[in-house]
Amino acid sequence: MAEQEMSKDAIDLLMEDHRTVEGLFSQFEAAEADQEKQQLAQRICLELKVHTMLEEEIFYPAVRGKVEDDLLDEAYVEHDAAKVLINEIEAGGAEEAFQSAKVKVLKEAIEHHVEEEEDERKGLFVQSRKADVDLHRLGEEMAARKAELMQEAEGAGLPPAETRTFLGVDQPTAEEGTDVATPPSAPGARPGVNPG
Ligand SMILES: [Fe+2]
Ligand SMILES: [Fe+2]
Repeated sequence: MAEQEMSKDAIDLLMEDHRTVEGLFSQFEAAEADQEKQQLAQRICLELKVHTMLEEEIFYPAVRGKVEDDLLDEAYVEHDAAKVLINEIEAGGAEEAFQSAKVKVLKEAIEHHVEEEEDERKGLFVQSRKADVDLHRLGEEMAARKAELMQEAEGAGLPPAETRTFLGVDQPTAEEGTDVATPPSAPGARPGVNPG
């Protein structure tokens, strides 16, 4: 059982992902050749898509109700803001005029988000460590899901990142052109809240 005791828990795995992506952003900034920049940009997007899915499918729901609600809500919205850029970067090529700017803005957004997760006094992770959550079991679940997603990425590829908190209000439907379009549905329940 010693091996199991030594195994990484959910937070260790998430922090490893954070370091991986930070390294990739640094490599992107240092890269000069378009092809290398493009490869790194695509890798950053893949890593972040998988990471946000692991957090949103497994980690965040497991800690909902056990950490500050506001902080967790912000985390979902920060993910969604990042996903808009991720999908843009994935769709664009090295020759796209704003590609480098988008990667830079994504980097800044992720830095801020990672800080909120890792802050040693009040971050999401430190709050989760104090909560009654089986982080080792979650870690196993996340590692299995990550392997599955990476396999999918290498095969057919992952679909564009899906947002969970945005309303998508950019499609006006009013005939008269004066009404403000109402979102297709009322804002959903908070993501990660267990119904019951
Ligand atoms: Fe994270
Ligand atoms: Fe996150």
